[in-house]
Amino acid sequence: MNSILSGAIAGLAMMLSGAEADELKDYGEYLSGECTSCHKLDGSGDGIPSIVGWEPDLFIVTMKLFKSGERENPAMVSVARSLDDEQLKALAHFFGSLPEKD
Ligand code: HEC
Repeated sequence: MNSILSGAIAGLAMMLSGAEADELKDYGEYLSGECTSCHKLDGSGDGIPSIVGWEPDLFIVTMKLFKSGERENPAMVSVARSLDDEQLKALAHFFGSLPEKD
């Protein structure tokens, strides 16, 4: 009985975190409209670096370097400063879920 119950709870927790991840990704996709005029979703770009397929933590750290001004590209600094932590997380999960160009 106990194990059935804890199995059910574990299953529910997994479902919830799956739904949360999907929601983050959807929000990130929505926000990405602000990025894709420069960063293409297929990872191609003329002098613009690819940001697809990155590890989400690395993506967030990189965005924070622009936010703090440690990386100085003016377009990126102003884009990064317009985003809060939740939005950075959503973008990191959306772009991270896309396949890297090979
Ligand atoms: C006006 C064009 C433009 C827009 C819009 C833009 N970027 Fe960028 N982005 C750049 C350029 C140019 C660089 C390279 C800057 C540098 O070398 O420091 C860059 C760099 C980056 C990097 C670091 C890439 C690397 O290889 O280190 C990330 C991450 C990034 N952008 C994310 C975003 C996100 C997320 C958005 C939307 C919220 C966005 N950018 C919107 C032009 C843009």
